[in-house]
Amino acid sequence: RIRRGSIKCRYDIRRFSSVFLSIYNSLVPSEDEINKQKQLLMSLKKLVKKEWPDADLHLYGSCANSFGVSNSDIDICLAIDDSETTKADILLRLADILQLNGFQNVQALTRARVPIVKLMDPVFSISCDICVNNLLAVVNTKLLRDYAQIDERLRQLAFLVKHWAKSREVNEAYQGTLSSYAYVLMCIHFLQQCKPSILPCLQEMKATYAVTVEGKNCAFFDKVKELRNFGFSNKEDVSELLWGFFNYWAYQHDYTNNVISVRTGSIIRKHAKNWTKRIGNDRHLICIEDPFEISHDLGRVVDKYSIWILREEFERAASILQDYRDPCTELFKRY
Ligand code: CTP
Ligand code: MG
Repeated sequence: RIRRGSIKCRYDIRRFSSVFLSIYNSLVPSEDEINKQKQLLMSLKKLVKKEWPDADLHLYGSCANSFGVSNSDIDICLAIDDSETTKADILLRLADILQLNGFQNVQALTRARVPIVKLMDPVFSISCDICVNNLLAVVNTKLLRDYAQIDERLRQLAFLVKHWAKSREVNEAYQGTLSSYAYVLMCIHFLQQCKPSILPCLQEMKATYAVTVEGKNCAFFDKVKELRNFGFSNKEDVSELLWGFFNYWAYQHDYTNNVISVRTGSIIRKHAKNWTKRIGNDRHLICIEDPFEISHDLGRVVDKYSIWILREEFERAASILQDYRDPCTELFKRY
């Protein structure tokens, strides 16, 4: 198929900026909610330290990367020496401790791809997943949070994209569409490549933060307060960027040849990564390189059916923003 997007919106898209911003504001979690999450983390830390004095808990995922909408579940990583035991045993012991201390719906999923304990906190009714030693996720959480501090337009764009993806049911990695993490990387890439660019590439700059996790060297510039004016010469606002994002994924991205790479701040050819054909279950129909696990394509879950669902949803979104007199309701209409 040959696809071509319009390069202009029929109506002045900026007219809808205040509506998009009010949707964004309604999604941002309140101070009160964030305090409750912190309190829950503290009480979990106490229990963990009692059992394993050298272990620690870290928040990761949307409650810590600043891309979490209100009432999301929280993701926690237990950092612990697991050389003498197995992750499964640690999780089973953790589940016992939680149950004894009054947490509800405690379940140890030891055979999941990422083994976790699920629980619900009885005081605030917050649901929570705890995994063991998934420290790369803690580091990529920091990378996303640091990007978010450079320019507030990233958070605005990503919240609206996530809200759209959930409404349109294209945010289910286990059903062949994309994870929230993948969508945030797509937003960062879009703001890196736009002209003039709104975000820099932190991994290409002089490293001020460096850790080695699972043998991977994770290094980037993290003095992001110094970058607050980075995107200053690009005056586009949230509504223009939202349209630009969908237009990019509907019509401008070369799905056959290209991989988006936040790590390099640009595009890499599929050829260069050997992602040109299906290997096992990895189909590489839309390629999103993980910033640290660079052999990891976050689009690998997408199959030959769901790729068309995704691309049609991108086109639908672009055309609604382009042509509708009142795009805001239609864009987020439940699937
Ligand atoms: N993650 C990862 N690799 C993936 C998927 C997720 O490393 N393939 C890690 C990331 O650190 C991500 C976290 O797991 O931030 C949680 O992933 P996900 O649930 O997709 O994102 P959230 O930001 O928690 O979004 P949501 O609000 O939808 O829960
Ligand atoms: Mg999450």
